[in-house]
Amino acid sequence: MKLIEGKPIAEAVYAECRSELEKLKAAGHLPGLAVVLVGDDPASKAYVGSKDRKCQELGFHSLKIELSADTSMETLLAKIEELNADSSIHGILVQLPLPGDLEEDTVIRAIDPSKDVDGLHPVNLGKLAMEDPTGFAPCTPSGCQRMLVEMGIETEGKNVVVVGRSLLVGKSIALLMMAKGPGANATVTVAHSRTRDLPSVTRQADILVAAIGRPHFIGAEHVKEGAVVIDVGINRVEDATAKRGYRLVGDVDFDAVAEKCEAITPVPGGVGVMTIAMLMRNTIRACQMAVAAS
Ligand code: GUN
Repeated sequence: MKLIEGKPIAEAVYAECRSELEKLKAAGHLPGLAVVLVGDDPASKAYVGSKDRKCQELGFHSLKIELSADTSMETLLAKIEELNADSSIHGILVQLPLPGDLEEDTVIRAIDPSKDVDGLHPVNLGKLAMEDPTGFAPCTPSGCQRMLVEMGIETEGKNVVVVGRSLLVGKSIALLMMAKGPGANATVTVAHSRTRDLPSVTRQADILVAAIGRPHFIGAEHVKEGAVVIDVGINRVEDATAKRGYRLVGDVDFDAVAEKCEAITPVPGGVGVMTIAMLMRNTIRACQMAVAAS
């Protein structure tokens, strides 16, 4: 069994970012990313903090906007309009889920598609479906694909089974994997909560992508001998022995599944670190595209 660690692969992405950043800086441009956090969900706070820190580490212009949980749609949309109009900002990310009655769809649609580095605006999802390379692909799915490519795991003609149909991960990774080109050309099945006899479906997978959001949901009975398993889940489970009172576990029961796999991603240290790396790469691209259009 091979462990697919995110860190060295993310580092390769950061090395590309640094080299592109140098070129942009030499021409007098600095990529800028704005991350908007509404409310104080601890997991979202932690993600936003990591994104902001990575921006600073790479030397991007970084804006962290924290709004209270009772922020109105009007205020949030006005903030997005302000960021859309700010030429020092090339990427805008609104951390999901949004609290209360805030309408995620309306908020995402308000982001200028050319600044939607999260790849969730209908224009970018449409471009993903159309295989138009001028769009932005969502970060977690493109991070998973990059891991497969870097590990030399062939996807062409393989059975990829994705468990989970969210826009943020499941649906988008299915589009990426069924597209034409390297790291794709796969035969994709999307399974979800209404799928009948899930283990019989997931056991068809040469590459199994777990994006359900339930701790240890995928067990040995779901996995074919010799499969590659990509675990997208990041779940907090209570653990009185842990310093913070919880630990992070994936959607895959790693201990039960690992011995059957050809390769598997750990949690933490797997897909999670790739999401931020792809966000940085998308922000560089957004800046390059803005420069080219000016
Ligand atoms: N919440 C969990 N993952 C993500 C992500 O990739 N983007 C946004 N905007 N919110 C998230």
